[in-house]
Amino acid sequence: MEKIVIEGGHRLNGSVRISGAKNAALPILIATLVAPGEHRITNVPELADISSTLSLLGRIGCPSLVSGPTVRIDTSRIAFSEAPYDVVRKMRASVLVLGPLLARHGECKVSLPGGCAIGVRPIDQHLKGLEALGCEFTLEGGYVYGRTDGLKGAEIQLDFPTVTGTENILSAAVLAEGTTVIHNAAREPEVVDLCNFLNSLGAKISGAGTSKLVIEGVSRLSPATRPYPILPDRIETGTYLCAAAACGGDLTVTNTDPELMSSVLLKLKETGCTIETGVDWIRIYRNGARLKAFKVRTEPHPGFPTDMQAQLSTLASLAEGTSSITETIFENRFMHMAELTRMGADVEISGNTATIRGVESLTGAAVMASDLRASAALVIAGLAGEGLTEVLRIYHLDRGYEKLVSKLHGVGAHIARVSDDIIDRAELQEAVNASTARAQAS
Ligand code: UD1
Repeated sequence: MEKIVIEGGHRLNGSVRISGAKNAALPILIATLVAPGEHRITNVPELADISSTLSLLGRIGCPSLVSGPTVRIDTSRIAFSEAPYDVVRKMRASVLVLGPLLARHGECKVSLPGGCAIGVRPIDQHLKGLEALGCEFTLEGGYVYGRTDGLKGAEIQLDFPTVTGTENILSAAVLAEGTTVIHNAAREPEVVDLCNFLNSLGAKISGAGTSKLVIEGVSRLSPATRPYPILPDRIETGTYLCAAAACGGDLTVTNTDPELMSSVLLKLKETGCTIETGVDWIRIYRNGARLKAFKVRTEPHPGFPTDMQAQLSTLASLAEGTSSITETIFENRFMHMAELTRMGADVEISGNTATIRGVESLTGAAVMASDLRASAALVIAGLAGEGLTEVLRIYHLDRGYEKLVSKLHGVGAHIARVSDDIIDRAELQEAVNASTARAQAS
């Protein structure tokens, strides 16, 4: 296994190109199942979760070919309609096959996702919506078996605007007979991207981006003639902006969309950073002044995203004054706080609120990543902290950040990816120096 080693204290200057959004690419790649034939999807990030998705589609009988950011998938034939435990365990989003497989194939078998590091995360709302469309489910041996004799449009009221739940129901309703209305639907940009993609196949979805989605079912969908480009990753964008806010410097993220980011950009402005935006770029810089404390509460879109909460925690750790962070989406999403404390952060947690008294600086330490965004928070802490930080269990980062180390090298970070076996401090420092020098020379 590998870990990331960072020598902190270097400002970030220059530009980072943002990849396609993981959370849009996953449902879109899986939704190709609803339209038999060959699909071309572009701006797909190179990530472990994408490889897992393509291997799941391969097991279902749909081979794919990856060429840089473009993926070709042939969904002409469905051989198996199952997402087994070993796949779902690694990537919870595999449950997204439920809707498309039921719509196209009339049956499917999906392992229940179970718990994960950030909470229980049930799928009751997915099943409730699909049942309303005419699916029947049984639970056996840790698997959900679903079948239907034909989907019929229905009015569905979600108890919570679940993102993948909305996506699962949408991807089934497009092929249902009649009209489906999803009330209290998720409004996240990735859901909008899925609606746009499905419409490019011939679906009739209106209301994307609002909490009421209306889907007129059609009898058949076909692959689009043009490749479909995945929207930019707003969480990757926000993560690099937070890194620059923490380290200081002058950073521009490109190939992104500021319109998707208003709640995050407003919060970064509150910390005292200057933000400028263009159509597809965002520039952030901070003069020598310390970051200012802030209050933030996670909410469904367009509120502040839970996927940016951990990264903001690192900024709060360094900000002047006392910040408060309230997590309302997931019940167990403060695991990074204990690791930040090991680097010198002053954090007190009460229920779903963390009170963080900012310190002048964080100090490097060996820290353990618990989930994807928690890992990003620790990398930011390492970049801004003093001395060497080792971030362990980086397979989480590989799930969601394309070429993280080389993108950070490109803006002046001193960072390396090394084997877990290297523990000697001098050797770790040498690895960071060598990797950074190589990147600067290339
Ligand atoms: C998606 C994102 C994830 C993000 C989250 C919230 C993907 C692949 N993942 O996850 O990065 O953090 O949205 O923005 O897009 N819930 C239920 N029953 C259900 C479904 C959800 O109780 O049937 C609860 C969950 O336990 C959680 C909340 O609803 O407390 C939000 O979950 P949801 O929006 O479904 O998140 P995901 O779609 O899993």
